[in-house]
Amino acid sequence: MSDLTSTCLAGRDLLRLLDLTPDEMSLVIQTAVAQKAAWAAGDHDAPLAGKAVAIILEKPSFRTRSSFEIGAARLGAHPLVMADDHSAFSRGAPVKDTACILNHFVEGIVLRTFAQSKIEELASWADVPVINALTDSYHPCQILADFLTLQEHGRRLKGLKIAYVGDGNNMANTYLEGGALMGMDVRVASPSGYEVEPSLVEQCREAAARFGTGAQIAVGNDPVAAVDGADVVFTDTWTSMGDEDQHARRLADFQGFCVTPELMSHADRDALFMHCLPAHRGEEVVPEVIDGPQSIIYDEAGNRLHAQKAVMSLLLGVPAPQDALDAVASMR
Ligand code: CP
Ligand code: NVA
Repeated sequence: MSDLTSTCLAGRDLLRLLDLTPDEMSLVIQTAVAQKAAWAAGDHDAPLAGKAVAIILEKPSFRTRSSFEIGAARLGAHPLVMADDHSAFSRGAPVKDTACILNHFVEGIVLRTFAQSKIEELASWADVPVINALTDSYHPCQILADFLTLQEHGRRLKGLKIAYVGDGNNMANTYLEGGALMGMDVRVASPSGYEVEPSLVEQCREAAARFGTGAQIAVGNDPVAAVDGADVVFTDTWTSMGDEDQHARRLADFQGFCVTPELMSHADRDALFMHCLPAHRGEEVVPEVIDGPQSIIYDEAGNRLHAQKAVMSLLLGVPAPQDALDAVASMR
């Protein structure tokens, strides 16, 4: 495992979870645990006072915008939110120009955009940490919050059986990456034609082997096989942002992939249900499941704040709490 220090993430980018080692991912989660407890205990320290974070949203957002904006403010930083067509990349501004100008204004950049190549290009020009707030390929901050939530619900991440039923999209990709790093048993079931890219599956298997996490990764087309004995069942919208013109076709193609009580009956009896939201009741999940006792969707959404506070503080150079370092060491 890697050498972990309190500032090992300072100055780094988070463009996808495989940018992190398993220990570094655990450090983010345990920092969120420590910071959340400290905040609840009345410790409202503002370690990023005097700094600014640009939050650029080129797709719609409710949870991500709220949690980054409030999270940055709670850390003491000024959140410069640009969620319109008239700001960061307006009037045909090249990515290089936007990055090189933001270098003068802010200490961190959060970006939600379409192509992963755009955030990679931004990061290549930015002198400050760049954080992926969702691209077509990945949603790393969501999965950090999800795994924090599972830990809070008493689940040990290593060895956890997680099933994702639905589109082989940014969420599926990122569960595979996070599961590979945390040593989970990850099963993904998608309709034919909507599978995760085989090259991504290979990268996750290779990372699991390189770090010796023990993760098991299975991808296929059978929701029941994926959910069988699972500790957690995840799903996501069948039509992601940018795919709206395919909605009618997707509704037809995804029949059989709705998370119903019958599908949940194949999971462990204490299985939890999670969804990054927004959800479409009656499409990818029925109300009996998402609004039922196994669902922890609101804790999941709420933890976006804590996971992203941890990401912003660590990448912007705030030392990790000793409790977080100790917790990671104790997990090895
Ligand atoms: N889960 C999530 O990222 O929500 P928003 O798209 O509303 O930010
Ligand atoms: N897959 C969804 C996730 C939304 C948070 C999308 O990209 O629209």
